[in-house]
This record gives sequence, structure tokens and C-alpha cells, in this order.
Amino acid sequence: MRAQVVIVGAGPSGLLLGQLLHQQGIDTLIVERRSPDYVLSRIRAGVLEQGAQSMLEEAGVAARMHAEGLVHTGTELIFNGKRHRVDFKEHTGKTVMVYGQTEVTKDLMDARTASGAKIIYEAEDVTLHDFGSEKPRVSFRKDGMTHDVACDFIAGCDGYHGVSRESVPTDAIKTFERVYPFGWLGILSDTRPVSDELIYVNDPKGFALCSMRSMTRSRYYLQCRIDEKVEDWSDERFWNELRTRLDPEGAERLETGPSIEKSVAPLRSFVAEPMRFGRLFLVGDSAHIVPPTGAKGLNLAASDVRYLFDALVDFYKDHSNAGIDGYSARALARIWKAERFSWWMTGLLHRFPESSPFEQRMQGAELDYLFSSRAAQAALAENYVGLPY
Ligand code: APR
Ligand code: PHB
Repeated sequence: MRAQVVIVGAGPSGLLLGQLLHQQGIDTLIVERRSPDYVLSRIRAGVLEQGAQSMLEEAGVAARMHAEGLVHTGTELIFNGKRHRVDFKEHTGKTVMVYGQTEVTKDLMDARTASGAKIIYEAEDVTLHDFGSEKPRVSFRKDGMTHDVACDFIAGCDGYHGVSRESVPTDAIKTFERVYPFGWLGILSDTRPVSDELIYVNDPKGFALCSMRSMTRSRYYLQCRIDEKVEDWSDERFWNELRTRLDPEGAERLETGPSIEKSVAPLRSFVAEPMRFGRLFLVGDSAHIVPPTGAKGLNLAASDVRYLFDALVDFYKDHSNAGIDGYSARALARIWKAERFSWWMTGLLHRFPESSPFEQRMQGAELDYLFSSRAAQAALAENYVGLPY
């Protein structure tokens, strides 16, 4: 078997890159370890910057997003029981789209199927070979048979736990990491969202977030202990705890109902440098993780795909190596800024078990400053809607 580009992983990064390359007549093979149902069962954030929306438009998969997604012009924040609003549109002229990552993935999967381009699910033992040379290969097993695929390039779109980053010699890669001392307990429910906009809450009992997937489906999160057990959280306990972290208006308007998903997620900041090793490129979560505060994960995957897609088109159409040579530095420059914003927003809104009374006062002062300063609100808005590509 042969493909010009082998893409490892069929998450949003791999599927989006695959779709864009296929449209340019560049031959791709996607190999994914899991089944399509498993890939679609993962629940992740749901806020798309305009850059990510444009990428989906360019890939021809934005119709359902435009029909069903919700355009948000700002966000709300609750501190000391009082609600404040940051207007994205006023400060930046831009908005964000609330549309779940599961839906984005489904739209991309459907497009892949419709295009007839090759994708192999439930591929076992995916292994990367010779990416330091001009002739890389990817091997895998499927239904008991071993396959070996020769290619020009490998795109490692296989997430944080994937094989691509692990295949790089340890002395060729440097990693930077921060693990936060708490998690997010999330639930999904078919209830009306408590507000038209997202609400981020800094409460003495911890962070909370009121988000949504549609006007009839809500997504809520509570800051919890890192070792919190989902089984210890009945729906009733979750709703009661969320209500105590909201302002009186939110508590009054909160509509409760049975959860359709409930899980605990850890929070981590992580970056691997560089993102190119010969003919292997790391893309999306395989190279970087952000804590979910600010919902930058999928948006960063989209900007990596932008840079790599442009680089590969330059290579194949213009016989230029410039994009490929510049990919890592270009992607990392944007990634570190989004890492900073996600880390800052996490620090601003959570209760840290180790924080001293002085540090708590600093956090309060920073929030107070944010609510009273147009410049501070503009900085939040500029980062939330997404820095330029
Ligand atoms: N071989 C093949 N596929 C693999 C392997 C492997 N060894 N390991 C992992 N995968 C697959 C996973 O099953 C998954 O479907 O790679 C895919 C990686 O997808 P994501 O983890 O969603 O990563 P990415 O596509 O970069 O998306 C980034 O999605 O993960 C969220 O928060 C993240 O929003 C961000 C965005
Ligand atoms: C979500 O809807 O899951 C979500 C939204 C915003 C965030 C994080 C998660 O900052």
C-alpha cells in the first residue's frame, strides 16, 4: 500500500487535515485505533473560534454548524455572588460558535465517507518507521493481517496518548508540563441552559461552568478533587452543588433533569517541542494539551492543521520546503499564547488547595480589575475569540 500522507488518528485534527488534503488531490490514508462509535462517544468542549469555523467551511463541512450552532457575542462571569459580562463583539468585533466537538467530528467523518478517501478504523499496533529518512512507512494490523504503507509524510494526529510522540527519540524532544491539583466533574443533560451565554463561576467552594450544546441540551462542570469518584455524585447531589455556586438568578433559573453523561476530567497544560521530526509532524493533542478553561483544545488543533495543510500544499504544488521547515515554529508561537491564556483563566477562576490567603486576595484583585477595566476585558475577549493564525 502507498499514500502520500499517512494520518495517524481520526480525531478532529486527523479528519480535518485529511479532508483538506483530499480536496487538493493529495492522497491520504487515515489509521485509527478505535471504532467510529468509540471516537464519537468522547465528549469534549464546544466553543469554536472564527478561525476554526473558517477551516470547517473550507473543508466543506460547515453547513450543520451554521444551521444548528449558537453564535455567542459574549460570556458571563460570577464572582462573590455577582454577575459580570464580557462582550466579545464590542471589544473585538468577533464572536464564537457554540457547537459540540462530537458534532464537528461526526460532520468530518461523514465527509470522509462521502469522499471515498481511505480510512481504517480499529487498526492495531500502529507503528511509525524511518521518518528520519525520505521514505517513511507506517505499519498496522487489521483483522489479523499486517499492512505496511509507504508514504512521503506522517501526520501524528493521535492525541495525547498516541504512538507518534512516543516514537520520537527522547533526546530529540523536550516537554513542558503543569498538572493542576483538581479536576472537572461534568454532566450533560437534556435541559434548557440556565442562560443564553456561558457562565464561568469563581466560588469559595470552587469553579463552576454552565455551558450548552443547544437550547435544549446543557453541559455543566464543577471543580472537584482530582480523585473524585463519579459514582459518589448522584444527579441530585450535582444539581444541588451547582445551585450553591451560582448567583440567586442562576440558582432560580437552573433547570435540572437526568444526566445523560457524567465524567471526571483531569486538568493539564502540556507542550512538546519541536513538532516536526524529519517527515513526521505532530498535530493537535499529540503535541499539546490545555486545561479546558477557555475551550482552546480543538481551536489549537485547527490552527496546527492550517499551518501543516498550507505547508503540504506548498510542498506538492510549488515544490517548496519552506512551509514544512517553518511548521513547528509557526505552530508553537500560537500554541504558547493559547497555553498562557488557558493557564491564566484556570488560575483566575479556580480555588487552589495550596493557595495562601495572600494569593487568594491577589486572585480577587485580578477579578475586580477585570470587571472594572475595559482594557482587561478587551484582553480576555481577544484571547477568547482566538488570536490570529
Ligand atoms: N494509533 C491510531 N490512532 C490512535 C492511536 C494509535 N496508536 N492512539 C490514539 N489514536 C487516536 C485516538 O483514538 C483518537 O481518535 O487518535 C485520535 C486522537 O484524537 P483526539 O485525542 O481527539 O486529538 P485531536 O484530533 O488532536 O483533537 C484535539 O480534541 O482531544 C480533543 O481536547 C482536544 O479539543 C481537542 C481536540
Ligand atoms: C464545554 O461546553 O464543554 C466547554 C465550554 C467552555 C469551556 C470549557 C468547556 O471553557
